[in-house]
Amino acid sequence: MTQVVRIDPDRPDPTDIARAADCLRAGGLVAFPTETVYGLGVHAQDRDAVRRLFAAKGRPAHDPLIVHIAALSQLADLVVAVPDAARTLMSRFWPGPLTLVMRRSEAVPDEVTAGLETVAVRVPSHPVARALLEAVRLPIAAPSANLFSRPSPTRAAHVLADLDGRIDIVLDGGPAWVGLESTVLDLSHDPPTLLRPGAVSAEDLRQFIRTVRFPAEGSIPGTGNAAMASPGLLQKHYAPCARLTLYRGNQASLRDALARGAREALARGERVGVLATSGDADAVRGLPVVLAELGSGDTKEVAARLYFALRALDEQRVDIILACDLPADEGLGRAVRDRLRRAATEVVEVD
Ligand code: TXA
Ligand code: MG
Repeated sequence: MTQVVRIDPDRPDPTDIARAADCLRAGGLVAFPTETVYGLGVHAQDRDAVRRLFAAKGRPAHDPLIVHIAALSQLADLVVAVPDAARTLMSRFWPGPLTLVMRRSEAVPDEVTAGLETVAVRVPSHPVARALLEAVRLPIAAPSANLFSRPSPTRAAHVLADLDGRIDIVLDGGPAWVGLESTVLDLSHDPPTLLRPGAVSAEDLRQFIRTVRFPAEGSIPGTGNAAMASPGLLQKHYAPCARLTLYRGNQASLRDALARGAREALARGERVGVLATSGDADAVRGLPVVLAELGSGDTKEVAARLYFALRALDEQRVDIILACDLPADEGLGRAVRDRLRRAATEVVEVD
């Protein structure tokens, strides 16, 4: 049985937090909200608990976990050295949605790092996550609280849809704020490499460190640096159940392509979902499609709704999802485009 505990996202009840902390200490699996998405936490140094976590998610053992801590003082134990760049970035961006990869110490089990010589660490800023980490005072390994390859959960209901009965507790603190997973920056090599774009953008990072390297876009396992540096950056990772066609190109042609794609899929007898900002969605109004709108086009709003919308379309049992790419390729827009690309089964370039 999974216990669902409603919790005030701003002022979490200490009794509920203490119960969740006890559960973690005892090797239990606790899902909790962070500012990015919901995480599924376990005591990072309890190897059996970590194995149970992989089993609950159906996650392959070669995909390493992020270790969450309450404060910088817990970092020294986990890494062999803290690079200067890390200190600078931590003082600016922690607590917050930035994960840093550093050379790991012996204190981090292989089960957590998937045998890598590095460990990914972050200090989340969500009050529930912070309260829990402060109460438990242990390093907590926490991947997103979804079944492997499903979109990350941005609400407790998403966690339950995937993991009800497989985990001990869900702290339901309402919607996660950002809606996309943290930025992952690898500091174990020079220059630092952005392994996963997120709310802390490359532009933000460049204000504090001179160079940030990007792995080639769309690298797939075994063919690109990104895949080798971070096994979790599998091409197909943030996927809905339905196949997803992503249209890329100039805005006006995108809408035409979307409308044409929708008509063709409907003509094939398919149940069609459309994932679009309200402007792009105008192209398919009047057609019998299931529409999941991403808001007016404001990037923050799109990010916050993206996974919710993908899951909503799956619940509607659509056969195919048609989506338009975003124009913005900087800041959080880069992260949204990255997730859309990874969710896509097919990318159609239009001009
Ligand atoms: O926002 C987030 O980061 C959320 C919340 C719960 O904190 N967590 C999250 O965890 O997204 P997960 O497991 O879904 O994604 C972790 C990513 C994966 O792409 C993984 O490959 C990468 O971080 N990663 C973890 N350890 C790594 C390491 N040592 N080197 C390179 N990449 C690593
Ligand atoms: Mg994940």
